[in-house]
Amino acid sequence: MKALILAGGKGTRLRPITHSIAKQLVPVANRPVIEYGIEAIRASGITDFGIIVGDSAQEIKAALGDGSRWGATFTYIPQSEPLGLAHAVKTAHPFLDDSKFIMYLGDNLIKGGVAELVEDFQSGECDASILLTHVDNPSEFGVAELDGERVVRLEEKPKQPKSDLALVGVYLFNPSVFDAIETLKPSFRGEYEITDAIQTLLDWGKTVRYQIVTGWWKDTGTVEAILDANRLLLQDIERRISGEVSDSTIEGNCVIESGARVVGSTIRGPAIIGAGCVVENSYVGPFTSVDSGTRILGSEIEYSIVMQDCTIRDVPARLSTSLIGRGVIVDKSDGTPKTARLVLGDASSVTFA
Ligand code: DAU
Repeated sequence: MKALILAGGKGTRLRPITHSIAKQLVPVANRPVIEYGIEAIRASGITDFGIIVGDSAQEIKAALGDGSRWGATFTYIPQSEPLGLAHAVKTAHPFLDDSKFIMYLGDNLIKGGVAELVEDFQSGECDASILLTHVDNPSEFGVAELDGERVVRLEEKPKQPKSDLALVGVYLFNPSVFDAIETLKPSFRGEYEITDAIQTLLDWGKTVRYQIVTGWWKDTGTVEAILDANRLLLQDIERRISGEVSDSTIEGNCVIESGARVVGSTIRGPAIIGAGCVVENSYVGPFTSVDSGTRILGSEIEYSIVMQDCTIRDVPARLSTSLIGRGVIVDKSDGTPKTARLVLGDASSVTFA
């Protein structure tokens, strides 16, 4: 069996972060989100990966390499335009050939892996297998209608959802999906939807199985979802202090990577401080990931993600629920009267509370 990971698309809902970083590379617990998917698939025994890439192809290739880090082979497959998930599958047809395959959306995270799913599909006779989960906001997803053990209907982003069961971004297919894709017309949002391709398989009387996700699942397409994914991953970390700590309190499950220095500060876990970071006279609160090379000086931060090489210095308010991109400087000037000086990229957002 092969794997197809989708890492194209635009990431508009995550702007401005996605002006400068592909959404699949946004770090969650200090690792690019896409790596969790790669790892989950690799753990199922698959080694042959196709990775769909778009505008951010160079960045994705530089981050992931040729797959040898995972004992796998990566084939990068450029998609001319992000015309939809089914278009991505069609683009990958020469790579997938007539293999069964697992398709995984590169910005999705599921707890519990996919090994069992892959094994069942490999040994079974069904044409497609999907994962579903109960959500509060089904109209933002593909939605499934069930009748007992059967999937009867699938609809992409329905205005009036028939159930609260969303399609999770993990799908298994045999090659009959390529025939279904050939029949598709663009949807109301102008995309060739994989949801419609699976509906076509149902219309043709093919066997489509489903499983309900038992652990958690996140589509990390929004800032809120990324922060929540970060929270869920940090919940499971184990305490490890490899860096240097002095005159500080490290409470609960914290990872302090080697080369990091924590001085005169409190870190309250779960939290992770990346390699080469400096935290001085500061407070880092629960559910915070601070990536390598960042300096937090005389400041307080909680429930946030700070990417690499930032400086956060003498900030007069506690930062919370923040997603801070690479190389950002947040600091305080000495001058009076109190003013705020902002140098922000397109679509940045600043909230004073
Ligand atoms: O996250 C689950 C949802 O994913 C499902 O419930 C929906 O049925 C499914 O259509 C999909 O919806 P999204 O609107 O969230 O998909 P998005 O545009 O965010 O794309 C998902 C991933 O696929 C993302 O990593 C970008 C990549 N992609 C997307 C498109 C449209 C591509 O590689 N090529 C594309 O053409």
